[in-house]
Amino acid sequence: MPGFEAVPDATPIGDVSHLIPKHIETQTQLNEYEAYNIAQATRKYLLKRRKYLMTVEFIKKVHKEMFEQTWTWAGTFRTVSLNLGVEPIQIPIEIYNLAKDIEFWEKNNTLSVFDRSVYIHHRLVKTHPFFNGNGRHARLISDIFLFGRGEKLPNWPDKELIEKTKIRETYIKSMQEADRGNYGPLEAFCRELIN
Ligand SMILES: Nc1ncnc2c1ncn2[C@@H]1O[C@H](COP(=O)(O)OP(=O)(O)OP(=O)(O)O)[C@@H](O)[C@H]1O
Ligand SMILES: [Mg+2]
Repeated sequence: MPGFEAVPDATPIGDVSHLIPKHIETQTQLNEYEAYNIAQATRKYLLKRRKYLMTVEFIKKVHKEMFEQTWTWAGTFRTVSLNLGVEPIQIPIEIYNLAKDIEFWEKNNTLSVFDRSVYIHHRLVKTHPFFNGNGRHARLISDIFLFGRGEKLPNWPDKELIEKTKIRETYIKSMQEADRGNYGPLEAFCRELIN
C-alpha cells in the first residue's frame, strides 16, 4: 500500500480496502487488532453459560461481533469464490441445512454434544461462508455450542493455529480427513485439547 512503512519481522498485509482501522500496517498489528475484537465477542458468549440456538442469524451475528470493528464484510456471506469452500450461491442453503441438522440432532438426541460440535466446526470450515475468519469463527461457534450445553471447552492453541506450525498442519490435515468423511482425526485433535 502506498505510504505503508515496512516493519521488520512482520508481513505487510495485502488487501486493505475492506479494513476499518486506518492505522494498521502489518500482519502482526492486524492479528492483534482482530484478537482484541474477537476477545470481546468471546467474553460475551463464554462467561455465563447460556444455551444459544444455532440459527442462521446467530451464526452470522457471531461472525459480525468477532470482526465488526476490523472488517467491513463482518457477518456477511462472501460473494466471491475462494480456493476453499462452496460456491457463494450455495452458502445460504449450506448454513440453513447446518442449522436444521443441529435442530434435528437436539430434538432427536442423536450424537453426543461433543460429536455435534466437531461436525459443526467442520461444516462451517468446509462451507467457508465468510471472506475470512472462518477458522476462528468455527472454533468460537463450537465453543458457544459446547459451553451452553454444559460441556468442557477445547483449549485452542490460538497463536499456533494462526501461524505456520506443526499444530496447524495437524489441524488442517484432520480437516481434510473430515472432508473425506473420516472424522476420527478431527475428533481426536479437539478432544486432546479438552482437559
Ligand atoms: N487446505 C485446507 N483444507 C481444508 N481446510 C483448510 C485448508 N486450509 C485451511 N483450512 C481451514 O480453513 C480455516 C482457515 O480459514 P480462514 O482463513 O477463513 O479462517 P481464519 O480464522 O482467518 O484462519 P485460522 O483458522 O487460521 O485462524 C482453517 O482454520 C482450517 O480450518
Ligand atoms: Mg484467515
